[in-house]
Amino acid sequence: MRKLGVNIDHVATLRQARKGRFPDPVIAAGICEIAGCDSIVCHLREDRRHIQDRDVYELKKTVRRLNLEMAINEEIIEIALNVIPAQVTLVPEKREELTTEGGLDVIKNFEKIRDIVKKFKENKIEVSLFIEPDFEQIGASKETGADAIEIHTGKYAEYFENDQENLWQKELSKIARAAEYSSSTGLKTHAGHGLDYRNIIPLLEVKQIQEFNIGYSIICHSLFVGLKNAVAEMLKIIKSPI
Ligand code: PXP
Repeated sequence: MRKLGVNIDHVATLRQARKGRFPDPVIAAGICEIAGCDSIVCHLREDRRHIQDRDVYELKKTVRRLNLEMAINEEIIEIALNVIPAQVTLVPEKREELTTEGGLDVIKNFEKIRDIVKKFKENKIEVSLFIEPDFEQIGASKETGADAIEIHTGKYAEYFENDQENLWQKELSKIARAAEYSSSTGLKTHAGHGLDYRNIIPLLEVKQIQEFNIGYSIICHSLFVGLKNAVAEMLKIIKSPI
């Protein structure tokens, strides 16, 4: 059965608009779990624009399965090794970006990533690498010793949003081929970024994708239907028989 990880960063974005206590992403995480999601995802960014250190520690105490997204950054690695989430997802990070743009270059940063993966695995933390649907990046990811990859679906989502059907179909095929290759190497295969209630449908045909990580669209939809309903609606789509 496919899994859904809900990214709650944007609950924290709203809180940080006033720098107060509400809405609390930890409470949001509890509601997502009650709705039936499989894991809670949050990204502790270097600039702390949404999730704060306190959130990560509280989430670790309260949720069933925490997936901490993070850049290859000494300070954040230290926090992750203190918190010991069930999983970390290594992502690239640029200060000026609005959201995570592009995948991690595992080939270029191979030794660094391999060493970090080793450190996390020694602490029984599962490691996923957020990469583009590219065979060479997948091969290098496997060699680092990581457990999983998360395929960056940002380009696919952008083409879909702009009704560029030939382009999104092409990107979808690329994702399908990448997912097939990834799972043939024994890596768990996840996907995420920019996914919503419409563009997820064609992706469900890619049977090798075991987990979707979705944030923005669910949190936006929750403003109108409530968080529990927004998560439940996505779960209904994702958990439908293949
Ligand atoms: N997966 C990863 C690795 C991400 O960096 C993000 C964005 O933080 C997501 C999934 C969720 O993307 P979105 O908020 O666009 O659904």
